[in-house]
Amino acid sequence: MKPLTRKLFTALLILLPFLEAKADDLTTLLLTWQRDPSTTMTVQWIRTSNRPATRQLHFWKEGEEATQTVKVPSKALKAWRGHRLHRVELTGLEPDTTYRFRVHKSEREFAFRTLPKTLSRPLRIAVGGDTLHRREWMDAVNQQVLKHDVDFVVIGGDLAYADGLERNLSRWDTWFESLHETLIYPDGRLLPMVVAIGNHEVQGGYFFSHATYENSDKWRERVAPYFYQLFAFPGHPGYNVLDFGDYLSLFMLDTDHSHPIEGQQTEWLKEALAERAGGKRHLIPVYHVPGWPSHRPFDGRVSARVRENWVPLFERFDVQVAFENHDHTYKRTEPIRNEAIDPERGIIYVGDGAWGVGTRPTHDPDETWYLKRAESEHHFILMTLNPNGSLDFKAIRKEGDTIDSWEIP
Ligand SMILES: [Fe+2]
Repeated sequence: MKPLTRKLFTALLILLPFLEAKADDLTTLLLTWQRDPSTTMTVQWIRTSNRPATRQLHFWKEGEEATQTVKVPSKALKAWRGHRLHRVELTGLEPDTTYRFRVHKSEREFAFRTLPKTLSRPLRIAVGGDTLHRREWMDAVNQQVLKHDVDFVVIGGDLAYADGLERNLSRWDTWFESLHETLIYPDGRLLPMVVAIGNHEVQGGYFFSHATYENSDKWRERVAPYFYQLFAFPGHPGYNVLDFGDYLSLFMLDTDHSHPIEGQQTEWLKEALAERAGGKRHLIPVYHVPGWPSHRPFDGRVSARVRENWVPLFERFDVQVAFENHDHTYKRTEPIRNEAIDPERGIIYVGDGAWGVGTRPTHDPDETWYLKRAESEHHFILMTLNPNGSLDFKAIRKEGDTIDSWEIP
């Protein structure tokens, strides 16, 4: 090796760790849960590199000095060439506690808060869907969320509008940038996010638009690569339930996108609801296509399948509220049971996904028996679980004012 080449080679060896450190893109930090939200936290980020590497994550209880360090390996993002995902599930955490953390060599501190084991304080959740047509709309709603000290965020599908396609990857960059710049507290606290799948996560939108459909993880990963690789939960087969202590179960469902509504998913839902029903636990389904649409026709194919397959189960197992999306409006239904208004035992369906997308005209509530409210407004829904078992709801517009509020005692 010539002396100059050797010098360059040595310099490269010295610089490489620093170049690699820079490639850890902490603007892609995402928190979620795969198990008990009172004692675990899943932390992940993306690194722009083809090279496998292990990173360290240092975390400590806020206000204390004892630091724990975990190793975080990386996995190639198959559908995102030149990118690797670092993901770790922290376990054995204390409930309702703030932890701070640092990644690898970055000096920047971030934070998260675990959830309580029992509902000893009000728990606030920001719920919505359909997040990114335009960055400025998504940012505006994110900024309103930050004003309400929420514990976490639930998005019912249609996240980046990338349609499962490589040519739309820049939309995922924009989606992560929006979270990083407008959904993070000044002290670095990030809000965990629980997501459901929507048509814009999937090539073709729905399983029935593919002649090649097969019920396999491999097939789902082919048509919705980014949803399955970027989000640890719900994971395969596209639907799952997350249990929060003894007070809440969130059912994240797939409305015909990468898994059919009827059959296996509905059978699973029946058992999962039955196992959790009958106590003080709130059973709350979240999914993309509405059973009770506020913009699209009532007899739409997927909406009808939601009503035929899932609504009878929701009614049988005493669901009180379900979150729907996809129609790009704000809506709240009347309390519904047996396809009629039932003020005593009816279920209220709330939606309809207008976090950061162009809003659409709504059906007229005066002429649509099941609609109590319907408005073409960007918003999120602030749901508060109170220790006495009641639920409060507020629909908060992107300008910050409350356009609707109600409670379930
Ligand atoms: Fe949609």
